[in-house]
Amino acid sequence: MSTVVAVGAQWGDEGKGKIVDWLSPQAQLVVRYHGGNNAGHTVVVEGEQTILHVTPAGILNPDTVNLIGPGVVVDPVVLLGELDKLKQRGILRDPARVRLSGRAHLILPWHTALDKAREEAARGRAIGTTGRGIGPTYEDKVARRGIRVADLLQPKDLRAAIDRVAKLKNFELVEFYSWDPIDPDALYEQALEWGRQLEPYIDHTERVLERALREGKNVLFEGAQGTFLDIDHGTYPYVTSSNCVAGAVCAGAGIGPTRIDCVIGISKAYTTRVGGGPFPTEETGELGERLRQAGAEFGATTGRPRRCGWLDAVVLREAATVNGLTQLAINKLDVLSGMPEIKIATAYRVKGKLTQEFPMTLGEVEQAEPVYETYPGWEENITDCRRFEDLPDNARSYIERIESLVDVPVALISVGAARDATITRAEPFAPR
Ligand code: GDP
Ligand code: IMO
Ligand code: MG
Repeated sequence: MSTVVAVGAQWGDEGKGKIVDWLSPQAQLVVRYHGGNNAGHTVVVEGEQTILHVTPAGILNPDTVNLIGPGVVVDPVVLLGELDKLKQRGILRDPARVRLSGRAHLILPWHTALDKAREEAARGRAIGTTGRGIGPTYEDKVARRGIRVADLLQPKDLRAAIDRVAKLKNFELVEFYSWDPIDPDALYEQALEWGRQLEPYIDHTERVLERALREGKNVLFEGAQGTFLDIDHGTYPYVTSSNCVAGAVCAGAGIGPTRIDCVIGISKAYTTRVGGGPFPTEETGELGERLRQAGAEFGATTGRPRRCGWLDAVVLREAATVNGLTQLAINKLDVLSGMPEIKIATAYRVKGKLTQEFPMTLGEVEQAEPVYETYPGWEENITDCRRFEDLPDNARSYIERIESLVDVPVALISVGAARDATITRAEPFAPR
């Protein structure tokens, strides 16, 4: 038995979907443990692209069971739509392959409306959220008034909960933001229908997980977002509303910390960020545009252009610390082919002072000037390389420099979006 956590080491979109799909044939369970459909995880199999927002990226591997844990927030419309598409494509034939926690909190229409209304009202100070209702849903969860997946199956309690919460939500929507109210009667009817359609998937996922571990199965935990979007460890307030770090697996899925074997940090070979907030190595000029075009850096959820810049070893070292990374996966190395030179930030200068560490406050991160090391690039197209030895010398040196700067071994290298465009240097799942 072995357990692996795949966690974003930057600001999201590191290629977690690609790596989870690649590893999933070795796992009997793939588990999402936090976040919601703010995530967009892309998997490319035999030239066909699938973008998953809620369903774990193990779904394209026919032998894997996919859990949506209690720490996830679930928009029933989005989940049902995603499951429908997977059914139509013949990928999902048996509901037993997707298990949805009855304890997961529901993203309801007032959450998405409030998310958008607040962003609109914040104007210059907006977070740049995905507008999917994530923040307002986690707020209600912590305020102990959230409505959960299992509540969809209890009509009387559901009705009472909707009526109770609607009063509060509509007050904020109408009085504070001058938005339209949500009709609780219509919502109740809709919610009953969601319950009917989701019932075959609803389960006590902690029990499914516990059973799998007892039977010695391999489990892969699929992080969403990334370390620097974490509510505690990220660039607050420009973050998402859940804990994204590896430790969130324990609470969000229901597994003890003693049972985690490997934590693999997923990073691009450069850096991107979508939405507002500081990004020390951001390149706003020609170079940023070149990375955006070469890497097709447009959001998988909202289609927004992603902000781009060089790799930041200060960021990766912080990610190694707060996640306890045992391995790294470096993705999109192919995107750097043809760059005459490549840079990595190894330190920051903050108010004239040199630091190797990610600063504590937002103000300091905003002022951080990266200190770069420059390396020679390579010309070759590396998409067909399947062994580390096949890579050009300068690409290998780049990977080795990342290892020494972060002090974590690079186990996987991705050289293309396709499933098999992957170089394995060490197996994240221990040999059985
Ligand atoms: P996630 O949210 O971490 O799963 O990442 P996204 O799916 O949002 O964004 C990663 C993008 O990069 C997707 O379009 C992937 O298909 C693509 N991708 C992943 N790995 C590679 C790679 O090694 N090379 C290239 N060129 N594209 C990649
Ligand atoms: P995956 O799993 C990149 C960003 C948003 C915004 C901030 C808060 O695909 O890596 P939210 O809607 O969560 O309240 O938005 O977080 N964000 C992401 N950025 N990848 C993601 O997910 C993201 N999920 C949220 O752009 O800046
Ligand atoms: Mg994404």
